[in-house]
Amino acid sequence: MLSISDEEFEGIRRVMFAQTGARLKESKRPLVIARLRKRLEELNLSSFSQYIKLLTPNNDAELEYFVNALTTNETFFFRHTMQFNYLYEVILPTLVESGNKKIEIWSGASSTGEEPYSIAIALTEFAKKNNIEFKIHASDINSEVIAEAKEGRYDQRAVKEVPESLRKKYFKEVPAKRGDGVEYVVSDEIKRKVTFFEHNLQHTAPLKNMDIIFLRNVLIYFDKDIKEKVVNLLEPSIKPKGYFFISLSENLNDIRTGLKLIESGIFIKQ
Ligand SMILES: C[S@@+](CC[C@H](N)C(=O)[O-])C[C@H]1O[C@@H](n2cnc3c(N)ncnc32)[C@H](O)[C@@H]1O
Repeated sequence: MLSISDEEFEGIRRVMFAQTGARLKESKRPLVIARLRKRLEELNLSSFSQYIKLLTPNNDAELEYFVNALTTNETFFFRHTMQFNYLYEVILPTLVESGNKKIEIWSGASSTGEEPYSIAIALTEFAKKNNIEFKIHASDINSEVIAEAKEGRYDQRAVKEVPESLRKKYFKEVPAKRGDGVEYVVSDEIKRKVTFFEHNLQHTAPLKNMDIIFLRNVLIYFDKDIKEKVVNLLEPSIKPKGYFFISLSENLNDIRTGLKLIESGIFIKQ
């Protein structure tokens, strides 16, 4: 049976930290074994020590596999619904009143796409009543979730918070790939509004002049120093009086930032 020694687990943690900034907790040992077992078998390796030797800085393909296997990608449409209500009812009208008719938003840890597509649905609804244009950018370090996001196909669990009227308008119901149920494919109208790309939050931010950045449920994996580094790398990409979203279970209390809290998990750049 495949097992992982303390030294091997430390080696895996070290590579994960260097690649993503995330520190794997001790409790993640079983997850590491479960997610990498198949890979070790494919490569005919009998121990994690042998696998760690492959994870050299120039082995991009294996490092990509490794990161894809170990990141946590849990997400669903309209997660933290109150933040979407605040976006729709307060932030978007404020931006329009200030004369902004071209709104740009970046979802910086977009996983399989539920978050940026939820933003695109909210803005599409808003744009029907207000004369605005908008663009959504969405990025993640995991190349596999980006590919899934582009396909835009979801199970029932992912869409459970989508109001029925919006589900009918912006999704096509199709037979599930496996089993008897149905799945939901995001409409082309919404897909066209979102551009996906790979980006590691530890690297310089490639986008500038964003009205809003969403960075929800990812800071939680970083320690204080990495969290501060990531937020400080993104802050210059937000316009003055622009907004920054984190999740309801995260905070910026322990880091230096010019962002001011205005609502649960929502900050304004001064
Ligand atoms: C739990 S998901 C959050 C998805 C969505 N934002 C939400 O709140 O529902 C966290 C995502 O962060 C991504 N991630 C982890 N470390 C990253 C890094 N250093 N750069 C970019 N994305 C990262 C993971 O691949 C994963 O898809």
